[in-house]
Amino acid sequence: MIFHGTKNGFHVSIRQLATEQHDLIIKYCGELSIFVLKSEHVPSGIPGLDEILGGGYPRGRVILITGGPGSGKTMMAMQFLLDGVNRFDERGVFVSLEETRHHLITETSNFGWDIEKYEKKNQIAIVDASPLRQVSKEGDQGGEQPLTSLSTPPEQEKGVRIRGPDFSIQALTTVIRSYVRVTRATRIVVDPITSLSLQFLDSHQRRGAIIDLLESLIGMGTTSLVTTEIASQFSFENGHREIPPEEYLCHGVLILHNSHVAGRGMVSAIEIEKMRECKHDRQLHPYSITEQGIAVYSERFLG
Ligand SMILES: Nc1ncnc2c1ncn2[C@@H]1O[C@H](COP(=O)(O)OP(=O)(O)OP(=O)(O)O)[C@@H](O)[C@H]1O
Ligand SMILES: [Mg+2]
Repeated sequence: MIFHGTKNGFHVSIRQLATEQHDLIIKYCGELSIFVLKSEHVPSGIPGLDEILGGGYPRGRVILITGGPGSGKTMMAMQFLLDGVNRFDERGVFVSLEETRHHLITETSNFGWDIEKYEKKNQIAIVDASPLRQVSKEGDQGGEQPLTSLSTPPEQEKGVRIRGPDFSIQALTTVIRSYVRVTRATRIVVDPITSLSLQFLDSHQRRGAIIDLLESLIGMGTTSLVTTEIASQFSFENGHREIPPEEYLCHGVLILHNSHVAGRGMVSAIEIEKMRECKHDRQLHPYSITEQGIAVYSERFLG
């Protein structure tokens, strides 16, 4: 929403509103002031989550979702893209590093989501980057793969070939950038980055590679979600775990816990480990996965 006008009482009140609610960006253009309604927070698309995030994800930042197998990382990320299209006309790119496009579409159809419909309208692009993972594994043995083997790349990246582990991050960001440019996406998901980061045995190299990936995503001006896997045996009752570098490097970290709690059975709970620029909640809140997707119970907490 854009307001145009000259300096008068009306503008003063709008400017006060901007200061109070932090949801207007004011641009001065000579005598004319332009007020652009642009929230600093991007809604997560998960019922209940924005309440504990303090409004949503910080716009233009990279947020990490980490959790054990089946905890809902992929669905939470896809729900973010679908909500962007459905409510805000914001397009998204989903980069799948583990699952093939076919598997992803089949699994999300469990929730009644027809991803192919969004693909046809150019609202969501699925980048089947699972071949990159294969290349990463084969890197030490000199495996290589042309980028054009990725599913329907928007442009022929002629002459670019992936060879070895440290080149695959660069190749991945080249592919993502191409899709973002063509689809004009403002939201990106990379799911999961675990195998990409684990290929670097040296911790400095690993940190450097993650920084490269995150900086590339930030440079695209999008709000991005990346996911990683954590060991399922981690328990929020007594667990300790080694904190990987991506948790320090991302702007925000959401942890999806799935743990056995005495007398309660398996409990799913979400924790906002950090969220820069947001006054977020620090409690553990239960969440559930139903046929409608993921929902967080913001009014209930554990512990
Ligand atoms: N229709 C449905 N209703 C309720 N839950 C469902 C439905 N379809 C799938 N699920 C649940 O959703 C979860 C899968 O979520 P998702 O694939 O996002 O997890 P993930 O954290 O990405 O797992 P992984 O680490 O294996 O990639 C599973 O636990 C599954 O039981
Ligand atoms: Mg997944």
